Amino acid sequence: MAYPEPFRIKMVEHIRKPSPEERRRALEDSGYNVFRIPAEMVFVDLLTDSGTGAMSDRQWSALMLGDESYAQARSWFKFEKAVRDITGMSEILPTHQGRAAENILFGEISKPGRIIPSNNHFDTTRANVEFFGAEARDLVIPEGKDPYDPHPFKGNIDLNRLEDLLKSEGREKIPVCMCTITNNTGGGQPVSMTNIKAASDLSRRYGVPFFLDACRFAENAWFIKNREEGYRDKTIQEIVSEMFACADGATMSAKKDGLGNIGGFLALRDPELAGNLRNRLILQEGFLTYGGLPGRELEALAQGFKEVMEEPYLAARIGQVRRFGEFMKSRGVPILEPTGGHALYVDAKAILSHIPPEQFPAHSFTMALYAEGAVRGVEIGSLMFGKTTSEGSFIPSPLELVRLAVPRRVYTDNHLEYVSEVTASIAANPSECRGYRILEEPPFLRHFTARLAPV
Ligand code: F0G
Repeated sequence: MAYPEPFRIKMVEHIRKPSPEERRRALEDSGYNVFRIPAEMVFVDLLTDSGTGAMSDRQWSALMLGDESYAQARSWFKFEKAVRDITGMSEILPTHQGRAAENILFGEISKPGRIIPSNNHFDTTRANVEFFGAEARDLVIPEGKDPYDPHPFKGNIDLNRLEDLLKSEGREKIPVCMCTITNNTGGGQPVSMTNIKAASDLSRRYGVPFFLDACRFAENAWFIKNREEGYRDKTIQEIVSEMFACADGATMSAKKDGLGNIGGFLALRDPELAGNLRNRLILQEGFLTYGGLPGRELEALAQGFKEVMEEPYLAARIGQVRRFGEFMKSRGVPILEPTGGHALYVDAKAILSHIPPEQFPAHSFTMALYAEGAVRGVEIGSLMFGKTTSEGSFIPSPLELVRLAVPRRVYTDNHLEYVSEVTASIAANPSECRGYRILEEPPFLRHFTARLAPV
């Protein structure tokens, strides 16, 4: 059964494939780093699905209704209602994006000696937890670490390990248990309702609040509806409500399932914690009813939160990512399976086995994707996660992946078929790819700004 997009295209944005010489120069000038390549020099941009989606005609017209009053703007009440409808939570704090919500939350509750468990923390979540002194601990199930395991909910938390941790450390040391839906770092894999409920029950039994990192909540709900027994006849809204009913709070980047280009929020049930966080919000983001966002953006997001839960949209969205995976597999490209909600992950270690991890095989693959097809993906391997010890030995990342994230409502299947052709042509001639070495790197999050050179 085909699930065509429940929209048609009213406006187009021109893109151009630069010549081989322009691409060669762009790579050289960027220090062989995709984050430094000018976007105009990219043909198909799969760097991220964050803030890169297309807004609908309804969202664009909502912008004109934006009320830019400093306090208690009309647009704020629409935004607040939309977020309450999703989360069922009373305390809503607007933020300019997801990491700002994380910063405000963890600034309050993360301290040295504390541990914050999750299935997998996203990089900014981990960075915020660790910046304030606590340890961010990943407890995803073992199946979630195997790129080829067919488990339908590879984002699930390992409940035995969670219970052991809760038992040994208790609520004094664990201020919150997080759960990322869908699990971005683990391949955009969903978390089942059964697992969300069990992790929440367990946390609450030990007096620990349970929070969702809810960036892709609607995509997660779609997987529950289609993969978990007992949910086929429920609406996405019902499933979303059931997921959030398990949570005491949530952080959200509305650049994903808010269908916006910027925005985020913190949602909570506890008014006392919310009061403390509001003081930080005013200091960092802005007044309580705009949190760094213009009124027009609040309007567009209020509309986006409704559209993202429409089933025909989700069927087309997840269906497109699945077809992208099929295009790759039919051409023999090894990818992480099953395909998740927002991205494909190419197994560069399997393709470029001649490049040792200290020469960044997945990075080499992203370079080839750009050189061959002006396609931009991102390395998730030893450039991002590898470490060199003080004795000088190199600890590689367990996986060497290239993430090809699919922006929402932006590219057609033809674009993705083109990307699979480019990918397959590189995979067919692996010996043409070379390793890379780092020339210059900052002390943390080096992948964003490092300069490299081919070996
Ligand atoms: N949590 C998850 C699961 C995310 O994927 C992201 C962002 C954030 C939090 C932070 O949100 O960017 O609005 O501050 N992920 C983007 C990505 C950047 O490319 O995966 P933000």
